[in-house]
Amino acid sequence: MDLDITPWLNMAIRWLHVIAGIAWIGSSFYFIWLDNSLRPEKDEKDKGVFGALWAVHGGGFYHKKKYLVAPDHMPDDLHWFKWEAYTTWLSGFALLALMYYWSADLYLVDRSKLDMTNLQATGLGLLVLAAGWLIYDGLCKSPLRKNNALLGTVWFFVLLGFAYGLNLVFSGRGAVMHMGTIVGTAMAANVFFIIIPNQRKVVASMLAGQAPDPKLGQAAKQRSLHNNYMTLPVVLIMFSNHYPLLFGNPYNWALLAGFAICGMLIRHFFNRRHKNDVHYGYLVAGAAVFIATMVFAAASQNGFAKPQDTGAVTYTQVKALMDTHCTMCHATSPTYDGFDAPPAGLILTDKAAITAAAGRIYDQVVVAKIMPLGNETGMTDEERAMIGKWAQSIK
Ligand code: HEC
Repeated sequence: MDLDITPWLNMAIRWLHVIAGIAWIGSSFYFIWLDNSLRPEKDEKDKGVFGALWAVHGGGFYHKKKYLVAPDHMPDDLHWFKWEAYTTWLSGFALLALMYYWSADLYLVDRSKLDMTNLQATGLGLLVLAAGWLIYDGLCKSPLRKNNALLGTVWFFVLLGFAYGLNLVFSGRGAVMHMGTIVGTAMAANVFFIIIPNQRKVVASMLAGQAPDPKLGQAAKQRSLHNNYMTLPVVLIMFSNHYPLLFGNPYNWALLAGFAICGMLIRHFFNRRHKNDVHYGYLVAGAAVFIATMVFAAASQNGFAKPQDTGAVTYTQVKALMDTHCTMCHATSPTYDGFDAPPAGLILTDKAAITAAAGRIYDQVVVAKIMPLGNETGMTDEERAMIGKWAQSIK
């Protein structure tokens, strides 16, 4: 028995990451919804109750109240929400390290853009994660903090700059995945460095019998609101690996921007709606931005993925390309070190299988250019164009 632990580890961590992410995003959605749905209650105002809400769920009634800044005494049992965020970040970082850093030559480095060693690529990746947080945190502490819309706009353009720059140095999917991790890191750091410490200070001053500083709560609330708007774009990036159409596009940074705006508009629609402030315009605008981004993607795609005129390409030529560039991995018994079975279950050694996989081959080789993995074999653009021509001719 040959047990290769890496894919199982990858699967286990990914499983954990998705589950923790659901718990985190779920609680973020829930609390923002709760905040927006609170309504003042008459006789409670003087007790420091900002608002309350009745809900029915799971066969019982809930009566939630929010105290601003804090209740007059410390409850015995106080629940904190933080491990959802920490677990999501830790598992996400483990995945990033396992795939994009450990095997940077296969997933992160694109030698046609910038030739780097695994260590250099990892260093650069970690650097942008730290830089992202420092810039964002700096913005939140600058005078911009008084204007959420302006702050959000500036942060958006900072991220756009990162997305553009990363796509110049990393593989398409490495660049897109790093955008998710920059934003995800800022979100988790918000919880770790601002929200939880501020809540701790509030609790400490209450225990000391002092009135807590309302600014602490306001800053925490602001960060948690930012997190809420960042979730939809981050979730898209989490599963973007399935979409070469997105990360394989040379303008992937522009597509990300479009889809991020779409996600935030949809989030905004729901956040307003919870305050009984329904504006379908946001939803329509979100859909319009989605369609515009999709059209732009298709248009820009044609520009670069259309095979140059290489003349008719025969199956024999394609078979030769598969033998040179693919079958060391995509065969019943791969010869490439570290692979015991054909990756993605794909075998490219006979005509029926190669022809059946033409569409997938086109996506991976011509559009996304992520196969051959890490361009280990140095496939040229002409060869990609030949495969493109052949794949289109048998459609
Ligand atoms: C060094 C090993 C390696 C080489 C060489 C390689 N691949 Fe892959 N291939 C993989 C791995 C690993 C995956 C699994 C998914 C991933 O990493 O994205 C994969 C996945 C795929 C997929 C599946 C994507 C899907 O639809 O799920 C296709 C198609 C593909 N490769 C085609 C090719 C073609 C065509 C070539 C040659 C031009 C090639 N690969 C060369 C390792 C390799």
